[in-house]
Amino acid sequence: MFIKELALWVCCLSGIVACVSAPPDRYVRQITPERVLQEKLEQQWARVNAEEGVRQQFNRAMKFRTQVCQRCHGTDGHSRNGRCPNLAGQNPAYLVQQLQHFSEGQRQDFQMQSIVKKMTDADKVAVAIYFSRMSPYPAITERGDGAAQGEVIFHIKCAQCHGKRGQGQYNYPRLAGQLPSYIRMTLHEFRKLNSRRRITIMRAIASTLSEAEIKALAAYISTME
Ligand code: HEC
Ligand code: HEC
Repeated sequence: MFIKELALWVCCLSGIVACVSAPPDRYVRQITPERVLQEKLEQQWARVNAEEGVRQQFNRAMKFRTQVCQRCHGTDGHSRNGRCPNLAGQNPAYLVQQLQHFSEGQRQDFQMQSIVKKMTDADKVAVAIYFSRMSPYPAITERGDGAAQGEVIFHIKCAQCHGKRGQGQYNYPRLAGQLPSYIRMTLHEFRKLNSRRRITIMRAIASTLSEAEIKALAAYISTME
């Protein structure tokens, strides 16, 4: 009995000592492939933005290197195809994260998964910087049916993560100005049982939305600047 209790105490004490002495960073900053990519992104971002000359050279090279992406995502990062998202002005941390999710199969799309197979970490970082630096503009300029209702729901249910202006923050994507068809399709996708994007907090959030709310949200978000 005594031995058991002693063992329990030793266990508890060593747990407390480990918690107090270990830097908290060890728990939050795990060295995952995604973390490595985010660090490369920070370094490359600083390099590209340091000098006007470097930036111009980078833009010229990337305009050529992203020709394949432009076919679906548009020459200015604004897609004309309802299934393809706009990339212009998108949060770069989110862009590299999603490219990594396609590589790992956590997010599934036949076309994007074949494309990322040929991309290195440096390619992923470079395209994320290139598209995120493009100026975004809204997919829809006039507020349509349901946009007013969408605005109310957005501020209650979405703004805390995606930002008050839908501009994105941390790893959360920019939604402002995104194509309404892509928003509707994606919200439906999150809810599916066998979703192509099931490992995300959005699954629970999208499940609380009615069909009418999804339409209203898409009508509002697509007009946000
Ligand atoms: C043949 C068309 C096609 C081409 C070419 C293409 N994409 Fe995509 N891309 C898509 C589609 C479709 C999706 C949406 C997939 C989904 O529904 O999950 C997508 C999604 C993405 C996303 C996720 C964005 C978000 O908002 O979640 C990124 C990032 C992306 N593509 C980057 C690229 C890059 C970089 C290239 C070029 C190297 C490229 N794509 C080329 C069709 C394409
Ligand atoms: C708790 C934080 C949180 C809240 C609240 C939230 N989202 Fe999200 N949202 C996320 C995350 C994280 C992702 C990235 C999902 C992934 O990795 O696949 C995302 C992705 C999305 C996407 C896909 C964007 C793209 O480019 O593919 C849409 C659309 C979206 N959210 C809409 C909404 C709407 C509409 C609401 C309100 C009803 C909402 N979100 C509320 C965290 C949140």
